Amino acid sequence: MSSPGTMPSAAVSPPEFPRTRYQGSKRKLAATIVEQLGDLNFTTVLDAFGGTGAVAYALKQLGKHVTYNDNLAFNHQIGVALIENDSVRLSDEEIETIGMRRDGISYGNFIERTFDGIYFTDDENCWLDTAVGNIRRIESRCRQALAWFALFQSAMAKRPYNLFHRSNLYMRTADVTRSFGNKTTWDRSFEEHFRRFAQEANAAVIDGGGGCRAICRDALDVEPAFDLVYIDTPYINRGGVGVDYHQFYHFLEGMVRYEEWPALIDARFKHRPLTRVSQPWSDPKKCGEMFRKLFARYRDSILVVSYRSDGFPSVDELVEMLGGAKPRVEVVVGPFYKYALSRNSQSREVLLIGRD
Ligand SMILES: C[S@@+](CC[C@H](N)C(=O)[O-])C[C@H]1O[C@@H](n2cnc3c(N)ncnc32)[C@H](O)[C@@H]1O
Repeated sequence: MSSPGTMPSAAVSPPEFPRTRYQGSKRKLAATIVEQLGDLNFTTVLDAFGGTGAVAYALKQLGKHVTYNDNLAFNHQIGVALIENDSVRLSDEEIETIGMRRDGISYGNFIERTFDGIYFTDDENCWLDTAVGNIRRIESRCRQALAWFALFQSAMAKRPYNLFHRSNLYMRTADVTRSFGNKTTWDRSFEEHFRRFAQEANAAVIDGGGGCRAICRDALDVEPAFDLVYIDTPYINRGGVGVDYHQFYHFLEGMVRYEEWPALIDARFKHRPLTRVSQPWSDPKKCGEMFRKLFARYRDSILVVSYRSDGFPSVDELVEMLGGAKPRVEVVVGPFYKYALSRNSQSREVLLIGRD
């Protein structure tokens, strides 16, 4: 067990954060980001917009007491699996039988009935209904979360663009020559993907000494009681178009909320998304006000904001807002890094650090 505040001292290389196709994941940058925080004095830290948990995980590896937060229920499971969880792993038997029907259990067929021909094949939809039923029956919170994690990664891997924003199963199944995409990965079975992602998740479980937890709230509803708050909000580009995680990943959110799902669906659309809910962080008219509120709420903490040089509002505007809450603001321009799906090769990663 590693004690808080210290790096694990094992001779073997530290576990890697599992691969993910989630939009805006800081997986490739997490080590660089936490390196920039090296001279700051903090133990408790809130990752207020946790996403994949890549940054929370890098901080946990450093022995920090990390609270992972994200307001989507499916992301919360990722936080439980890899941030809160210190030692629990899925058994081989659980992994191998996750998509198998068990005697005496009645399984739902909501995915099969509702998403016919939209994202996955009929057999795959049926497999998903079964896997969801089995995962919901896992009693241990952390083992259940690990299984959700593997299911989400599998479902994303099998999707063109790794998203659920369009009804486009045909892109996978059409008999055409393709100039993009990875048909082999799309067609690999759920069983195979699940096994691989579950093993990756198992291997990534590290001991945080009981100091880490996962919560699922609006970032403005978390008690402001942290030495440092890390802020990585949904990206809005210069044109004012923001990433709406609720819409991009509605299918994953629906699986976690399986019982409620029928009532949440917006049936007007062919791809059957969840009914839209207000996303002020993805709205160019509202995000400035949101940043101001967030900085004011956590003004007693060190504030660290991950940002992009081409984001909206601009870096200069953000520096001014952060300056309203903290006396010292430092801007670190990161290494060149191109996000998956981003066509803007000029975008640079920026870190804003506000402190006393
Ligand atoms: C840019 S992503 C974070 C990426 C993360 N740092 C990572 O490495 O994966 C932004 C996240 O904010 C979450 N989010 C959006 N609005 C939120 C809110 N009001 N409160 C908390 N989380 C929110 C989204 O679900 C999304 O996962």
